Amino acid sequence: MCGIVGYKGKSDACGILIDALKRLEYRGYDSAGIAVWNKGKIEVARQKGKVDELRKIVADSSFAGKTGIAHTRWATHGTPSERNAHPHKAGDVVVVHNGIIENYIELKDRLRKEGHKFLSDTDTEVIPHLIMSYIKKGRDFVEAVRLSLKELRGSYALGIIREADKMLIAARKESPLIVGVGNGEYYIASDAPAIINRTKRFIFLEDDDIAVFAEGTVKLIDLEGKAVKREIRQVQWSDAMAEKGGFKHFMLKEIFEQPRAISETLIGRVKEEKGQVDFEELKLPDLAKIKKIWMVACGTSYHACMIGKHLFESMLRIPVETDIASEFRYREPILKEDDMLVLVSQSGETADTIAAMKEGKKRGVYTLSVCNVLGSTLARDADGVIFTHAGPEIGVASTKAFTTQISVLFLFALHMGKTLGRISASDVSGYINEIKQVPHKIQSILDASGLIEEVARKYMAYRNFLYLGRGVNYPSVLEGALKLKEISYIHAEAYAAGEMKHGPIALIDENMPVVVVSPHDHTYKKTCGNVEEVISRRGRVLMLTDDPSHEMADRVETFFVLPRTIYALQPILSVVPLQLLAYHIANFLGTDVDQPRNLAKSVTVE
Ligand code: AGP
Repeated sequence: MCGIVGYKGKSDACGILIDALKRLEYRGYDSAGIAVWNKGKIEVARQKGKVDELRKIVADSSFAGKTGIAHTRWATHGTPSERNAHPHKAGDVVVVHNGIIENYIELKDRLRKEGHKFLSDTDTEVIPHLIMSYIKKGRDFVEAVRLSLKELRGSYALGIIREADKMLIAARKESPLIVGVGNGEYYIASDAPAIINRTKRFIFLEDDDIAVFAEGTVKLIDLEGKAVKREIRQVQWSDAMAEKGGFKHFMLKEIFEQPRAISETLIGRVKEEKGQVDFEELKLPDLAKIKKIWMVACGTSYHACMIGKHLFESMLRIPVETDIASEFRYREPILKEDDMLVLVSQSGETADTIAAMKEGKKRGVYTLSVCNVLGSTLARDADGVIFTHAGPEIGVASTKAFTTQISVLFLFALHMGKTLGRISASDVSGYINEIKQVPHKIQSILDASGLIEEVARKYMAYRNFLYLGRGVNYPSVLEGALKLKEISYIHAEAYAAGEMKHGPIALIDENMPVVVVSPHDHTYKKTCGNVEEVISRRGRVLMLTDDPSHEMADRVETFFVLPRTIYALQPILSVVPLQLLAYHIANFLGTDVDQPRNLAKSVTVE
């Protein structure tokens, strides 16, 4: 995830900005850059590589100045390189950007026709050119920025400076950006940790806000140029808490980041109006030749593969075989040349999943990785890669990576289905419309986190849990059970609800909380039967459903209503309360939620 910082004040901007970038390194990046304004001239330095290398480049005096912007880049459009690194410049306007501009191609085409020359492959570079095009038409700096922002579609957090003006301008839409208020000096940053050491007084910008910093003053306006009022908030965060954005644990922060993580994973890929999905970074074989897809991973990522199987088989009627990587690599899988092997991995460094990829490559099979970490082994060595844009996942228990993996697999199924003519453009548009509503639906679940915290308090003392689900929600309950196990150390196992009578029912008594995911879908009646069997054996049922009038509503101990969505996307919603339940129980028990005992974030050994 990119990070941006800016400064306007009375001190040396360069040192402040480099230090602020260092404090954003935890977000992950592949290149860094800085621009400093000094007496009407802007010096720019940028490079692929680490902030410490940038520090060496700017050590000389030409980077003196009291106004500047800086950036760490996590590549989404255009490979990591100097020419794709930020800041980007056009005329005397210099910009750093976090987010994705969806309509950059049409803007670039129009600006090229006006004579603008582009040097990079990035979406960001259209922004300084667009601002310059307005300045050339006689608009002043602030107006040129405001009118440019009105044309952008997608997400942005921006820092903008110009040689002919002493001002620093910042703006945000869907990508977070905060203003730090010092004593006659101002900061901007993607995240609090960058500047928490300089000030604890923040203005949290909201979508469509524009902040204009002059000498010792800041003015906030909206996209229409009207003044906007935002309060200055004093935060009591330590450095450590700042990295967690005020949340007690990274895991909770990452659960709450899921709406934005999914939005960022969608942006730049979905073209609803055209009914298509684009994966720019993807080199694909002739999809018409693919007769079978394998989906292989470990842990949470394997659960995502199980959901992927449902998506591809139900939407494309292509056979999908899933397997745990540590099994796949030793069982002589019957791979054929026209198979596709999909490897899902948050870290991109899981030893068994890498070994599975090698197994596939050895047999001449096309390998596609779904990864969250740029430059990781699976991202680099697979024949093709699709990145989840979840941003760094610090908590060992995977949360936002899981929901963005499902999102990516859903989008890839749409892309493949449209390419093979198995899904019409209008159906693709319909599916895109559904997944674009998912972030808001997740947010409505997160808003009820307090309810789930109360449920957690009630069940935290139990030592065994059973989770039941059917169809696409079976992987979801597997994931819910894994979350509880790995962070609270409580024994939890998940079963396909139809399997209950084949053994697990012997476990049911009043000491057994049973979590049941029971949406009103084609398996509803069957699952009602399972719930009846549990209740009649005094089991304690916690039910998640999308049906407020579920016939078992007043028979179960806990009843939580989920927003409705299409069957294929139910797991993205049903897993969120399960993540929160596991988190709150573990938090009450006082375990090390972010670094649970015996676990590593990435299992790079076998
Ligand atoms: C999930 O919460 C665990 N941390 C673990 O199961 C993890 O999903 C598994 O180790 C796979 O990791 P990967 O996605 O980085 O390959």
